[in-house]
This record gives sequence, C-alpha cells and structure tokens, in this order.
Amino acid sequence: MEILQTPAEMRTWREEHPGSLGLTPTMGYLHEGHLALAQRSVTENRFSAASIFVNPTQFGPDEDFQRYPRDEDRDLQLLRDLEIDVVYLPGLEEMYPKGYQTYVTVGELAQGLEGASRPVHFRGVATVVTKLLNVVRPDRAYFGKKDGQQLRVIRRLTQDLDLAVEIVACETVREKDGLAMSSRNAYLTVEQRRAATILSQALQAAETQFTAGARSAESLRRVVRTTVETEPLAELEYVSVAHSETLAEVEGEVGSEILLSLAARFGSVRLIDNVTLTEDT
Ligand code: PAJ
Repeated sequence: MEILQTPAEMRTWREEHPGSLGLTPTMGYLHEGHLALAQRSVTENRFSAASIFVNPTQFGPDEDFQRYPRDEDRDLQLLRDLEIDVVYLPGLEEMYPKGYQTYVTVGELAQGLEGASRPVHFRGVATVVTKLLNVVRPDRAYFGKKDGQQLRVIRRLTQDLDLAVEIVACETVREKDGLAMSSRNAYLTVEQRRAATILSQALQAAETQFTAGARSAESLRRVVRTTVETEPLAELEYVSVAHSETLAEVEGEVGSEILLSLAARFGSVRLIDNVTLTEDT
C-alpha cells in the first residue's frame, strides 16, 4: 500500500494506474462504518484509494477540530488489511497552503439541518471533497448515509460542477445496540454511551409509526421528540422530516420518500443520525 502526501505524488500515481479507481474520503479514526465503504470500493474497482485528512475548514471556531480523535498507525493498518492500494494523506500545508482563498459553496441544500447550526461546515466539506476528487480522479467515490445531508450536498456539487465521478451511497453501520458508528462516539462517557442508544430508538419508533400508516410530518417529529425526551442525558437539537431530495422541511402530509434526521447533544458531544422512509419500507 502506498502512502502519498502531496497532490503531485497523488496525480502521478493515478496517471500510472489507469484502471477503474474507487475513493473513500475520511477524517481517520476509522471504524466499521468507514471500512464498509472502503471494502465496497475494493469489491467494485480495479484500484482503491482512501484519504485521511482532518479538514479544519469544516469545523466551526467552537467545534472539536483540535481534539478530533486521531490514530494514524492503526488507520493505515486497517486499510492495509483491506488491501487498499493507495492512501492519500496530505498535511495541512499541502491542502491549504499559505495564501489559500478559494471555496466551494452549495446553495439551499447546505443551509438547513446541519447547516443551520454549523454555518461553515458544508463549505468546508464541499471544498475539500472537490479538491480530493480533483487530485485523486476516482471513477467512484464512497460516502455513508450516516451523514445524509453531506451525501446530498456532495451529489449536488458533482452534478453542478460536471465532475465525472459516480457517488456511491452506503448504508449506515451501527453498533449492536443501534447506535450509529461515529468517530465522535469515542468522546462519550460510559453513561452517555448508554444513553446515546435513545437516538436510534427514537428513529425506529417513528419508522414503526410510518410503516403502520402514519403520514403526518408533525406526528413523526413528535414521536422522535417524546422518545428522546425520556432520556435525561440527551438534549435534542433538532428533529427534521424533510423531502428526501431537496431537504425542504415537510409540513402536513409526507410524500413517498423522506429523510428523518436528528441531532442531539450528550454533554458537549454532538451526535447525528437519520433514516430514510419510503412507501415500500
Ligand atoms: P468521516 O466522518 O471520517 O466519514 C467518512 C465517511 O464515512 C463519510 O462518507 C461518512 O458518511 C461515512 N461514515 C461515517 N460513519 C458511518 C457509519 N456509521 N456507517 C456508514 N458510513 C459512515 O464525513 C467525513 O469524514 C468528512 O466530512 C469528509 C467527507 C471526509 C470530508 O472531510
């Protein structure tokens, strides 16, 4: 497995490996969710690349960039075990050299939900993903449904900027008790970790109502809210029932496909989760 640190090295590698290439972009501290993406890439492509870069521009000033968990040696070993061909591991100076001042911003899609409380987040994500796609030049790029809005923002930007890459969406990988895997789960205390299962339970409760025929957006939001409120350690930031494609908040009756999503805090740890509900679930 090759480990490359500069755009020039990465470009040269790609020129020398002209077969189909899959890319899994990550911020490291890999868990089974990331590995499922990388594994799928290995299955579907001649070559597979992964990137590890904790991207400062997608963190707000009061967010966890400095303390974001890192374990590069372990990450590289896990990727080696999957037989990933190349890891792109740029430093801050390579990604954002002195004088850097160009950003990619996606419109409405990036403004609600996560964008509402994290105003610079998707600008940072869109910028770094555009740069990664431009340097690595994959045929396919793998993203998790865990970050539902991010996935849609990235689809939008590749379409709008005519980028020749297929965005592959992968199912959310969960712990046995339902908690969506996340590098940020590492911040939780034992008590908070136990409490955090309420998030997937709340989404499940709404899904059960939906399957039983409930179609009022407000009643679905209410099920999530009242379930999360049973857990004193959880502080719900938002619950959203949105049109799956536009992410416009649904009032009244829901249509055939919706994204049900939420964000909640456990102390200072902020977690997100979502499910897609379709008529045939
Ligand atoms: P990161 O949080 O490291 O996640 C990398 C990829 O793994 C994302 O596509 C994310 O949706 C996916 N992922 C995370 N947890 C998952 C889970 N439990 N199941 C399935 N997939 C999961 O998302 C980012 O990094 C960054 O924003 C990035 C796209 C790399 C840009 O900096």
